[in-house]
Amino acid sequence: MTATVSSALSLVDDQHRVQVSQVNMPPRLLLGPGPSNAHPLVLQSLALRQVGHLDPSFLALMDETQTLLRYAWQTHNRLTYPISGTGSAAMEATFANVIEPGDVVVIGVMGYFGHRMVDMAGRYGAEVRSLHQDWGKVFSLETLRDALETHRPSVLALVHAETSTGARQPLEGVGELCREYDCLLLVDTVTSLGGVPLFLDEWGVDLAYSCSQKGLSCPPGISPFTLGPRAEEKLQARHTKVANWYLDASLLAKYWGSDRTYHHTAPINMTYALHESLRLIADEGLDARWARHQANAELLWEGLEAMGLACHVVRDYRLPTLTTVCIPEGIDGKAVTRRLLQDYNIEIGGGLGDLAGKVWRVGLMGFNSRPENVLLLLTALEQVLSDLGWTSPRL
Ligand SMILES: Cc1ncc(COP(=O)(O)O)c(C=O)c1O
Repeated sequence: MTATVSSALSLVDDQHRVQVSQVNMPPRLLLGPGPSNAHPLVLQSLALRQVGHLDPSFLALMDETQTLLRYAWQTHNRLTYPISGTGSAAMEATFANVIEPGDVVVIGVMGYFGHRMVDMAGRYGAEVRSLHQDWGKVFSLETLRDALETHRPSVLALVHAETSTGARQPLEGVGELCREYDCLLLVDTVTSLGGVPLFLDEWGVDLAYSCSQKGLSCPPGISPFTLGPRAEEKLQARHTKVANWYLDASLLAKYWGSDRTYHHTAPINMTYALHESLRLIADEGLDARWARHQANAELLWEGLEAMGLACHVVRDYRLPTLTTVCIPEGIDGKAVTRRLLQDYNIEIGGGLGDLAGKVWRVGLMGFNSRPENVLLLLTALEQVLSDLGWTSPRL
């Protein structure tokens, strides 16, 4: 018997018209923890015609993407390329490649994404030693030294920019410490790349990853990854195969390196988009870009303060890309985010984990880090809060 298309699953009406409309999304201003709005030129590049993933023109684009990525991260690492997937896939790529069952890994948990690292490292058989800090605070060099002295790990993993808290973990001196204790330094730069000063080589970072949808102003789906010489040594000395075929850096290096051996079909148009987003960073210049993020964040902080709203993180460790704003007493945080979205098309985020219900999360990332966005948000927030009956303690 031949199978027939089920009429119960049909999406066509009596006039043979498909009952599903063409995609059409509202014009949101994404000022939350990410995704952030993509730069218009990045969106344009997504619509360019495709070529094959081994086409000479695409191979040249891959080389340039690697060069641009090395610039954005300030690293000479040979193995620097994007992973086909979101930031979590790139996070997984770092752990999968350097962890073998039984390896001791120290993970700094000062927010939601530290917990994700713990989960991931454990799945690859690591003996995880978590180091905890209050959400919104950061680790001191002394605390990190004590942890390395006590646990003698093969990897220390830290989140540079904790998106759940808005705190920036200082990295100066951590690389030297890791060398002293012969361990690798693995860093999450998901909310810092393209918006916060980052010097991977100078800071002795051995492995790092990021995402496309925040400081790079590209849609989500492709994620920067880098693995330095010390991590490469560990990879080459493995006794066991990398437990994740898709993310195995030794296999991926054959496609991204000179062999150009097929591994998986590269996301062609997402690679165009990433290339354009990185080209825009090079065009602006890192110093100018970091200064722009800092200036717009300060504008936001001053505006919030003038309204009588407090930031959760002390100024010295506050991220310019992500600000956690304390929700005032008596205000329903979710009602505010709902109103901002419904009435103003502005998305901001709520708190996660320990900060759920306590903070809003405001992102000023990449293309969206602009004074007009800050002023628009402050005006809308003030109006919504006033509609909800809040009076500023400043009045
Ligand atoms: C610090 C941090 N790490 C990892 C991730 C995971 O990235 P993705 O959601 O792109 O998988 C995120 C996402 O927001 C993040 O903020």
